[in-house]
Amino acid sequence: MRNKDVLVKVENVKIKFNLGKENIAGIKEYLIKLIRKELFFQEFWALKGVSLEIRKGEVFGILGFNGAGKSTLLKVIAGVLKPTEGKVITKGKIAPLIELGAGFDMELTARENIYLNGAILGHSKRFLDEKFNEIVEFAELQEFLDVPLKNYSSGMVARIAFAIATIVDPDILIVDEILSVGDYKFQEKCKQKIEKMMKNGVTIIMVSHSIEQIKEMCTRAILLDHGNKVILDEVLEVVKIYEDRK
Ligand SMILES: Nc1ncnc2c1ncn2[C@@H]1O[C@H](COP(=O)(O)OP(=O)(O)OP(=O)(O)O)[C@@H](O)[C@H]1O
Ligand SMILES: [Mg+2]
Repeated sequence: MRNKDVLVKVENVKIKFNLGKENIAGIKEYLIKLIRKELFFQEFWALKGVSLEIRKGEVFGILGFNGAGKSTLLKVIAGVLKPTEGKVITKGKIAPLIELGAGFDMELTARENIYLNGAILGHSKRFLDEKFNEIVEFAELQEFLDVPLKNYSSGMVARIAFAIATIVDPDILIVDEILSVGDYKFQEKCKQKIEKMMKNGVTIIMVSHSIEQIKEMCTRAILLDHGNKVILDEVLEVVKIYEDRK
């Protein structure tokens, strides 16, 4: 990357999904159709050529209606999805808070999931032993530690996910709507933690349907519509255009 302050560079990224057009009863029918070249897919472009640059220390918002491509853009930045066309370059350690419960096993207890998810995020058992109390305290779920996650509410899952993902300061924190499932008190706590991370120079990319939250936290934002970039500018400019579309 030319500019050393640029941590995320998305260059004309396009993402294509193949939507199955027919109902196929089983693997055998699928293979027969595959061999006969009778499988038809409908192409769907979730991102149609999006470019952006995010610099170190920025808090960058992504706005758009349902299905606009916000989560898809986050996933491609996090490296979960590969661009069909175009390029994504990132610098530094990324903590993605994208799909609630991804990396969790709902049959296991919270305690077990802290170790499982921590291992997925690359932490050692020793490190997790050291941080265990901090995670539990932040999530405020002491009494529920030995309850399987399937009996948790989505807000409780979000607490654990947020607490684990933020035990080490990443260079880039990616947050998809996760703040909206926690209750007001926990949202405030997460916001404070994010603000602390901001002060420490962590770059944050966030999706939220709360315009207030975006206005309060972000400096710049992008507005997506059907996989296209409508505008990328100072947050207030982008919000103005977003609100005019309602
Ligand atoms: N794995 C997938 N396979 C097929 N289509 C997908 C897949 N993931 C997303 N899509 C489609 O891509 C489009 C963009 O989805 P995306 O999840 O990025 O939207 P979004 O802006 O995050 O919406 P929301 O506000 O509802 O979270 C949608 O039309 C969605 O149906
Ligand atoms: Mg989404």
